[in-house]
Amino acid sequence: MTQMAFRPRRSCLYMPASNSRALEKAKSLPADTIIFDLEDAVAPDAKAEARGNACAALRSGDYGKRELVVRINGMETPWFAEDLKQACINKADAVLVPKILGPDDIIQISTVMDELDPSIATKLWAMIEMPLAILNLGSIAALGPKTRLTTFVMGFNDLAKEMHAEHDRAIFGPVMSQAVIAARAYGLNIIDSVYNDFNDPDGLARESMEADRLGFDGKSLIHPAQIDTANRVFAPQAEAIAEAEAIIAAFKDPINAGKGVIVVDGKMTELLHYRQAKQLVATAEAIDALAK
Ligand code: COA
Ligand code: MG
Repeated sequence: MTQMAFRPRRSCLYMPASNSRALEKAKSLPADTIIFDLEDAVAPDAKAEARGNACAALRSGDYGKRELVVRINGMETPWFAEDLKQACINKADAVLVPKILGPDDIIQISTVMDELDPSIATKLWAMIEMPLAILNLGSIAALGPKTRLTTFVMGFNDLAKEMHAEHDRAIFGPVMSQAVIAARAYGLNIIDSVYNDFNDPDGLARESMEADRLGFDGKSLIHPAQIDTANRVFAPQAEAIAEAEAIIAAFKDPINAGKGVIVVDGKMTELLHYRQAKQLVATAEAIDALAK
C-alpha cells in the first residue's frame, strides 16, 4: 500500500460553485479543504456557469494551501463526463463523485481519469450515500491501493432519504464505524457528513466529537461559521500532544533502548503506542504548517 503524505482534512467546506461570492470568500477562510459543488447545490440551469466558475477558481492560484476538490454531477447525469474532464484538466486535487454504488463505478471513473492524462495527479473521492454503497463498503475501499480512490465522504442526507428513515444521527452509528473500518483497512481517508443546522455550534461540536472518536479525519461543512469548531475538534488536543511527546521521549531514552514495552506515566506503553504518538505529533505539526 502506498503511503500518502499526510494532510489535515478537519474542515471540508462545500459551496455551490454557482455562488461567486462564496468562492471569493473561501480564499480567506481557514478551511483545510474547499469543495466546489456542481451537484445538488446547483440548479440545472446554472450547471454550466458553475463548472466554469469552479475551473476558474482552480486555475486562479488564490486558495493558498487549501486542498481544492470539485464535487461533480453523478455518473447518470448529462453533466458527468464534462465535469470530470474539466476538473481533471484544471488540476483539482480531487473530484468527489456522488451516488457511488459499487467497485465497478470506481474502476470506470478511475480509468477515464487515467485516459484523460495519466500525468494528472487528481484523486478520486467517493460519496458514500447510497444503500448499495454501504453494502459494498469493503469492495469499494479495496480499490484504494489500485486506483485513484483515496477518500470516502459520508452523505447522510441522501442515505436517510434512500432508507426512508428519519435523519436521526443515532441510526448511522453502525454505518459510521463500518465505513471507518473499510476505509482504514485499505489506507483511505474518511470525512463525516454535514450538520445541516449551521446556527447550532453545540450540535456541530457534538457530532464532530463523535466522528473524531470513531476515527474520522474531519467533517463536511456547509457554512463558514462551522469551520472553527471542526478545526478545533479534529486537531490533536494539547493534553494528547503532551502525552505523545512523553511517550516518544521515553522510547528514545537510552535506558529503554531495545525494549518493546515500557511504563510511561504509570501505564503500560508498547511500540504501537510509540507509533501512534509519532503519528499524533506529525498530525499536530502538519496542522501548524498549514497556518504558516
Ligand atoms: N462557503 C463560503 N462562503 C459561504 C458559504 C459557504 N458554504 N455559506 C455562506 N457563505 C458566505 C456568504 O456568501 C456570506 O458572505 P458575505 O458576508 O460576503 O455576503 C456569508 O458567508 C454569510 O452567509 P449567510 O448569510 O449566513 O448564509 P446564506 O444565507 O447566504 O447561505 C446557505 C446559507 C446554507 C445557502 C449557504 O451557507 C450555502 O450555500 N452552503 C453550502 C451548501 C452546499 O454547498 N451544499 C452542498 C453540500 S450538502
Ligand atoms: Mg448527496
